[in-house]
Amino acid sequence: MLLIKAHMEGLAKITLLTTLLVVGIGFVAADTKHVSIKNMLGSGRNITLHCQSRDNDLGNQNVADGDEFGWDFSDNVFGTTLFFCDLGWQKVQNYHFDAYSFARDTVRCYAGCSWLVSAEGIYGLNGQTGFWEFWYQWPN
Ligand SMILES: *[C@@H]1O[C@H](CO)[C@@H](O)[C@H](O)[C@H]1NC(C)=O
Repeated sequence: MLLIKAHMEGLAKITLLTTLLVVGIGFVAADTKHVSIKNMLGSGRNITLHCQSRDNDLGNQNVADGDEFGWDFSDNVFGTTLFFCDLGWQKVQNYHFDAYSFARDTVRCYAGCSWLVSAEGIYGLNGQTGFWEFWYQWPN
């Protein structure tokens, strides 16, 4: 009888532990965000892209017309996550913009940010409204 009780308690502990583990993994997974930058320049024009944060350098990328470059990340606990990029194509060299800033984007694009690179400039998807907004105009 005592043995059965001890066994049951052990099971309850394992069940509790499993529940915590599943909830924990779910929490981490829900916190994963995605940023993507798509080349919509047309006419077969490539872009060069170099994105980084304080901790991660995503390297120099060549993104062909119609392709996109993206990455996954989680916000840091300090609420200071920032990914910035330098973009180049025919018209501009090293155009600097923020692809994700916690302060700016945690509400606007909570699941991540999507960008479209066009001949006029860069459009960003507002995850709240579902509309593409014109964010960055190329300098003249
Ligand atoms: C554009 O990118 C493609 C594929 O990455 C490459 O083959 C091509 O040479 C590039 N074009 C130019 C003009 O750099």
